[in-house]
Amino acid sequence: VAEALLVIEVAIAGEETRISFEHGLLGGHAIDETGSPLPPETLDLLSHSDAILAGAVGGPKWDHLPFERNPGPGGLLRLRRQFDLFANLRPARALVPGVGLFPDFDLLIVRESTGGAYFSLQKGSEGIGPDRRAFDLIEYTAAQVERVLAVACNLALGRGGRLTSVDKANVLESSRLWRDVAEEVCRRYDGVELEHMYVDNCALQLVLAPEQFDVIVTENLFGDILSDQAAGLVGSLGLLPSATVGFGDFGLFEPVHGSAPDIAGKGVVNPVATILSGAMLLRHALGLGSAADRIETAVERVLAQGHGTAEVVGSGESLGTRQIGELICAEVGALAEAGDGA
Ligand code: IPM
Ligand code: MN
Repeated sequence: VAEALLVIEVAIAGEETRISFEHGLLGGHAIDETGSPLPPETLDLLSHSDAILAGAVGGPKWDHLPFERNPGPGGLLRLRRQFDLFANLRPARALVPGVGLFPDFDLLIVRESTGGAYFSLQKGSEGIGPDRRAFDLIEYTAAQVERVLAVACNLALGRGGRLTSVDKANVLESSRLWRDVAEEVCRRYDGVELEHMYVDNCALQLVLAPEQFDVIVTENLFGDILSDQAAGLVGSLGLLPSATVGFGDFGLFEPVHGSAPDIAGKGVVNPVATILSGAMLLRHALGLGSAADRIETAVERVLAQGHGTAEVVGSGESLGTRQIGELICAEVGALAEAGDGA
């Protein structure tokens, strides 16, 4: 996060917009300091903000806590729900030449993020022994499907116009509803070509030929799984940003990866996912598209020059978090000076 903030500062230096940064606690640190993964002070701060840049939260130390007091469900998921951020955008494309499984693909997963089994009202665990029973109902309303499909259609129009709606309509009623609503919504968008795909087939197609996809839209749990899989295609989870948005400009911008507790605090984690989340924030929440372009171009250049953290460079020379941040800052600065937004 520290590197992302520095990069953002350099990227907007020539813009008229000034950003003031406020810091709030979320997740594990918030639990340690206040007992809550999403303290009221943080919520208050966020409700007066234009955008949220969130660092990875959680770790083994807090895994045993019940859902409400756990960094993931009690922090992140509550945040998505609290601000009705129902569309989780997870772009994945070939970023580093020679890294990752495929040389050329560029897809965007739009994951529904406030419904499904994650937020089911019928969730529970009861009984003991072999009779112990636990359940998380997958449930969607037409309105919930409609709004995320509308977001996906609009994004598809700004890209290649191809939308793959992923479901399990051969088995699940909630997927039948999903499919019906997807058809209905897409009819309203001239220029969006809709195809349906079962989630098991989508998992297969992603590892066989990811270049066939443009925009994928799917329900919460399917999207959670498929987006990690897409990250594998890129080569490192440390490279993938995300934006979770609702109807307006406000949003939650965070890396797709977790807190990597095994390497945390050593100065070696990959800052690229959070830096690219910063670019998404500038573009989506603040309307600073050229500053966002500068960051994305700078990241591509630095990676193309062969620089990267350990998991990206393999047996090559790896750089630390700070060094990668510095290289990207320098590249962003050079692009700004050249007056080059793209
Ligand atoms: C993600 C994460 C979260 C999710 C967890 C931490 C609750 O895996 O953002 O993909 O499942 O949504
Ligand atoms: Mn996940």
